[in-house]
Amino acid sequence: AKVKSVEFVKSSAKAKDCPRDPLRRPEFAVLGRSNVGKSSLINSLVRKKDVALTSKKPGKTQLINHFLINKSWYLVDLPGYGFAHAPRSAKTDWSAFTKGYFLNRDSLVSALLLIDSSVPPQQIDLDCANWLGRNNIGFTFVFTKCDKVRATKGRRSDDNLKKFQDLISNHYQEPPPWIMTSSVTGLGRDDLLLHMSQLRNY
Ligand code: GTP
Ligand code: MG
Repeated sequence: AKVKSVEFVKSSAKAKDCPRDPLRRPEFAVLGRSNVGKSSLINSLVRKKDVALTSKKPGKTQLINHFLINKSWYLVDLPGYGFAHAPRSAKTDWSAFTKGYFLNRDSLVSALLLIDSSVPPQQIDLDCANWLGRNNIGFTFVFTKCDKVRATKGRRSDDNLKKFQDLISNHYQEPPPWIMTSSVTGLGRDDLLLHMSQLRNY
């Protein structure tokens, strides 16, 4: 499941502008709240610093960005949702084009729904999980910033994870898979790459 090559393919402003691949190579889309660490996770997976652009300020990624991995599958970086201070246009865009992407992308194998482990469970993330479920889009929960959980040695941040996992197990008869990651330490990178390679093989 090693990443040997990564190529930036294209930024798209609309779902219908996304690359049309005659080989129909499979793709995985990274979604989650603004600032959750989507672009950082992609960089971590491919072991490059700035293949995907990141920022301390939420709202950095504004387009649908396709990256081709090992010439055989794609990782897709998306704009975040739930950024309260985004200009109105950016907020409407999320529902218009990111939802459009999910509803129309035949080559999508699975979504990676990123959850910030350094904050308590957020309703908007649960809403997003429910929206994916209602639309039959398979996804994996990927907890980000788990290095922060470690750094605070215990209680509070671990509680965030525990609470979220309790919510998941109460909500689903068969909960989606979940993986803990950190883009700072590389935690979960190999697990996530292996998980995606298993999903591609059906
Ligand atoms: P948008 O593009 O705005 O939706 O944000 P994003 O989800 O792509 O987040 P991005 O990767 O730009 O990261 C946001 C901030 O979180 C940056 O300051 C990152 O350095 C930080 N960050 C991301 N991942 C981690 C992580 O695993 N651990 C820590 N400690 N910080 C992280
Ligand atoms: Mg981003």
